[in-house]
Amino acid sequence: MDIFRNCRIIKLEVKGDERGSLVAIEGGVNIPAEIARVYYLFETKKGVSRGFHAHKELNQWVICLNGQCKMIIDNGYERREVVLSRPDEALYLGSMIWREMHDFSEDCVLMVIADKHYDEGDYIREYDKFLSLVGGRDQ
Ligand code: TYD
Repeated sequence: MDIFRNCRIIKLEVKGDERGSLVAIEGGVNIPAEIARVYYLFETKKGVSRGFHAHKELNQWVICLNGQCKMIIDNGYERREVVLSRPDEALYLGSMIWREMHDFSEDCVLMVIADKHYDEGDYIREYDKFLSLVGGRDQ
């Protein structure tokens, strides 16, 4: 399901049987990139929001393995809210998408798959700068 041109929900195939469920993530197969990095957020304190940035080049896939949280995604023209609560779907965030994460449940485990290593230089952390780079609102 496309949210923006470079931002969508991807359904992950569940290999389920009578024992339970399993999802396999493979770079170049269900995640269309070479996987360079995986990180996860957990034990996020009540009331804490995270993110508040966009990336110049990075592609990421966000999967809520447990619990739930709310993602705000913004391409500079439109802002949408997506609740992530399923381990069998990934939110793909391409480059130049502003993201915020709110309302983490106490048990939320949010896994992020990235196609590049960590690089602070790839971050845009000021919303006004993001808007001017994408030529968004009021430009
Ligand atoms: P931060 O960018 O504040 O996380 P978020 O955007 O989810 O709110 O990152 C928190 C800290 O972790 C910061 O010191 C940078 C570090 N970090 C890494 O070392 N590697 C990584 O892959 C990420 C995402 C963060």
